[in-house]
Parts: sequence; C-alpha cells; structure tokens
Amino acid sequence: MIQRLTAREILDSRGRPTVEASCLLTSGAIGTASVPSGASTGTAEAMELRDGDASRYGGLGCLRAVGNVVGPIAQAICGRPFETQADLDAELIALDGTLNKARLGANAILAVSLAFARARAAERGLPLYRHLALELGVPVRTLPRLTINLFSGGKHAGGQVCIQDVLIVPTARTIDEGLATAFAVYQAAVALTRRKYAARALTADEGGLAPPFSTTEAMLEDAVEAITAAGLQPGRDVALAVDVASTHFYADGRYALDGQALDSQGMIRVLAEWCRRYPIVSLEDGLAEEDWEHWPWLRDALGPGVLVVGDDLLCTNTARVRRAAAAGAATGLLLKVNQVGSLTEAADAYRAAREAGWQVTVSARSGETEDSWLADLSVGWGGDQIKVGSITHSERLAKYNRLLAIEKETGLPVVAWPGRR
Ligand code: PGA
Ligand code: ZN
Repeated sequence: MIQRLTAREILDSRGRPTVEASCLLTSGAIGTASVPSGASTGTAEAMELRDGDASRYGGLGCLRAVGNVVGPIAQAICGRPFETQADLDAELIALDGTLNKARLGANAILAVSLAFARARAAERGLPLYRHLALELGVPVRTLPRLTINLFSGGKHAGGQVCIQDVLIVPTARTIDEGLATAFAVYQAAVALTRRKYAARALTADEGGLAPPFSTTEAMLEDAVEAITAAGLQPGRDVALAVDVASTHFYADGRYALDGQALDSQGMIRVLAEWCRRYPIVSLEDGLAEEDWEHWPWLRDALGPGVLVVGDDLLCTNTARVRRAAAAGAATGLLLKVNQVGSLTEAADAYRAAREAGWQVTVSARSGETEDSWLADLSVGWGGDQIKVGSITHSERLAKYNRLLAIEKETGLPVVAWPGRR
C-alpha cells in the first residue's frame, strides 16, 4: 500500500528543472526516481507540464508538476493498495483524463510511476531490472548492445550540421569491453577534432563531440577515421548508428540537408548511399515524423542489414507502433518512457514492437538526470540496444556504470547483432 508521496524540483543535465518523486509504501520500502526531458521532441509526445512563469527558469519551472504529485495524485493514491504497476498507472492515467497528460503533466505522472516501481522492487528485495522483467513477464537473459554518441549536430549542438547523432556500436559481447572500445575511439576523435578542426573537445548536450564539420558526410567520414585511428576495424570491431532526427530539418515536403532541398525520394537515396559507404547498422528517424508514406520506401531501400528505427515517428505510442508495423514503415522502436509518460504505456509500445518482430532501442533523453533507472529497464525489458549518449558527462555515465554493475552481478552477455552470432 502506498503510504506517502513526496516530490521536488531538481535540475537536469542542461540545468533545467525536472521532477523527482519518492514513494513510501506501508511496508517501509521506499523508491525515488526522476524524469528526463527531450529537446528534439516529436509532436505526438505526452506533455511535460512547465510553469510558464517567465521570471523563473524562463518558464521551464516544474513547481506545478511537483504540486500535482503531492496534491491530487497523492490524494488519489495514498492509502490504496496497487497490486501491479499496471493498476497504479491506470489510476494515474484516469486521474489525468487527457490523451496527452496535459492536466497533471507527463513529468508528474512518470515520476510517480517510476518511484512506485523502485519502491515495489525494494519491497520484494529485488534489483530494479528483475522487478521490471517480472512485471513485463519476460526473462532476464541479455544486456543491451551499446550505441554510444561520438559526434553530435542538429538540435543538440547548435545545428552546425543538420543530423543529430553519429554513434559508435562496439561489437564486443561485454559492456566492459564495449566501453573500453568506446573510450579508445572517443580519444581518437578528440585528437582528430584538435588536428582537423583546430577545435577543443567541446561537447554537445549528450556529450558527443561537435566540431564544425563541413558536411554530414565529413561527420561520418571522421567517425570511420577515428575508429581506424584507434586501431580498430570499422564494421568488424565497431559499427555505426545514426540518428538523423530529420523531422527537425523537414518542411513543406523538403529536407534541408547540407544546403540541398531534397524531396523524400532524394533523401532516401542519400541515406541508402550512406549505408552503402559506411558501416551503419541502425538508422533512426531517416525521414520526418509526418512523412509516413515514404517510410516503407526507406525500409525497402536500406534492406535487412540496417535497422530502421522510429523515434519522433513513433513517440513510444502503441497506436503509432501498430500503424508503422502494418505499413512496413520501420524495423525498430526507439523507446523513451517519457514520450508516453508511464511505465505501463511504454511496456505496451514495447509489446507492440515485439509482436511486429522489431528490435527495441531503449533511449535516454538529451536532458537527463543522474538517475540510472534506464539501465535497469534496458536489461529488465531485454532491450536490443541502449542509447544514452557519450561516455562523458555523469548523467550518461550513471547509466553505463549501472550496466557495469549489472554485468558484474549477472554475468549476462550482450545481445549479438542479428547475423553476427
Ligand atoms: P531528445 O534527443 O532527447 O532531445 O529528443 C534524443 C533523440 O532524438 O533520440
Ligand atoms: Zn532520435
């Protein structure tokens, strides 16, 4: 039974307010969790409630969301028994009563949803990943593959190039080895940045390096060069993943890529060419969130060797996942729990993706906290990939360090790439 709910405003990795909640059960078990926040957001995301008071944090304060946790939410759920996460989340969703959580705020609701999960895990004496796996009804068998931000552009780096992330994907079967590989490539990329761009290793929102690349291809070229300079073989030891985040440079049917104005077919040709020339195994948001009709073309053009991942397109929304699966629009879900605002709804989207035979990449947001629940979720739900940013910045490291701890504790292997077993 939930005895008490508390909440507070804390600051995220961009120094913006976000919500942290604590849930005390009558057994004495307690759970605390905080929620992240995106910058390159999809229009179908659940609503983050912000104060809108321009004199405080430029309107980004979360005091109203905090007030909703300790006010109406606490009133509705304290003193009541909730057997499962789904029971609690259904109550929170009903209490909000809107389709996008605009009344209470997805940030308020998710903070409670997560804090309850932590408290229940503590009550059961289980690590969070085991509790989450039991709630979902899946076995804990593997750790996710690492996809680690190397270079950033787009909305996370002031738009010096339009695409958002070039990530490295170590093929190592342990987290430990994967991180050591990422370190080697990252250091090589720092040296390259200094040599080629006479730039210091300044980092973007997720810790990726962001020198002034002349073109998007230069960014991909430099990633391959860094892998090679680290003494590793591109494609064999380290592959690439790209988050094009193309919604954010798309307007009126055109993609504004490197000074061109490409139509959807032109964009697909460019993306397919990148996948031929560079060792790309995963391509996220290659097309814009509203360009539904061309996504199946993209999927066909890239073929089975490249995961076609939907982020803004899907917004961790079950109906959108089903629609995309029916249309043959993607082969992977980017799962961000705060896009939908509760663990249970994210689990539904996860199930819909699995029913479609898709892979799942569990993802952090560009605005993160030092909370590490995402690492537990990626293991508990059997995510194929995890995407939490670079190997710098402690809000990112909190997740990697938690994965290291889970690896030590379980000895589980990292999921193999399909076809690489
Ligand atoms: P966001 O970026 O958290 O700013 O939305 C992450 C992503 O696009 O995958
Ligand atoms: Zn994305």
